[in-house]
Amino acid sequence: MDDLDQSTALLPGDVRMPLLGFGTWQATGQSGYDAVRAALDAGYRHLDTATMYGNEEEVGRAVKESGLRREDIFITTKLPPEQVGRERETIEASLRALGTDHVDLWLIHWPPSSPADSIPVWRELLAARDDNLTRAVGVSNYSTAQIDELIQATEENPAVNQIRWSPSLYDRQRHAEHRDRGVVLEGYSPFKSTDLADPVLTRIAAAHGVSPAKVVLRWHIDHEIVVIPKSVTPERIRANADIWDFSLTAEEMRDIDALGT
Ligand SMILES: NC(=O)c1ccc[n+]([C@@H]2O[C@H](COP(=O)([O-])OP(=O)(O)OC[C@H]3O[C@@H](n4cnc5c(N)ncnc54)[C@H](OP(=O)(O)O)[C@@H]3O)[C@@H](O)[C@H]2O)c1
Repeated sequence: MDDLDQSTALLPGDVRMPLLGFGTWQATGQSGYDAVRAALDAGYRHLDTATMYGNEEEVGRAVKESGLRREDIFITTKLPPEQVGRERETIEASLRALGTDHVDLWLIHWPPSSPADSIPVWRELLAARDDNLTRAVGVSNYSTAQIDELIQATEENPAVNQIRWSPSLYDRQRHAEHRDRGVVLEGYSPFKSTDLADPVLTRIAAAHGVSPAKVVLRWHIDHEIVVIPKSVTPERIRANADIWDFSLTAEEMRDIDALGT
């Protein structure tokens, strides 16, 4: 398949982040490598990994052996916050494992357990960005208050907050809070907290002749929320990427949003 019609979110620094990415948590070893190769073949151009996933080497090798140009693939990795004080060596280890001289997005995987560490860790991310080790920096699993604390201290907003998100977790207010601060909302675990047999999803899926899983992914895209489904099953990897030939009506979007109330 050719490159997907990649809808993107614009991050500071003129960085384009594809709204559809490929999740790689629990995709390790040969099956992780195979999944990422299948994803790149299926047209995904955005890969989500983390130091904690233990698969950066497989992700990097799959990128290299795909024959695609590095600049055509958006790669996110994440800092485990217990690495406070060792941020620079952690990203350098990520870059070595991934076989690249920069990532596109580096996230703090979750808020540091000691609130006193929040600002120093964030400053280390900003420094890594300024030294071109990553094109953009952001956070994951942060509340709006925790994001505000970073912005107040540094006048730099995280480009992205990656949080658990799905129709049943839909929160209009929280989405608006991200938008108001110029923080792109990236959802994770789109399927794990979704009942794919929900009658609203199955009705809308039938109307478009697609699966409920595709409706869930398309709902994120139509909200301009980044979504990173994971699969190690080739048919699902391909199917989850094949969401560009339909879109949801305003009424369908409202019906799905209502699953979160
Ligand atoms: N920042 C964080 O704290 C955080 C936390 C969790 C996840 N994440 C990121 O978000 C990514 C996605 O989240 P996730 O892996 O937790 O869960 P997910 O993508 O919601 O769900 C993955 C599960 O759904 C199955 N699946 C995939 N496509 C399907 C389809 N079309 N129909 C039915 N089932 C399908 C997969 O099975 P098979 O693999 O067997 O096909 C797998 O069991 C992760 O891989 C990771 O990159 C980040």
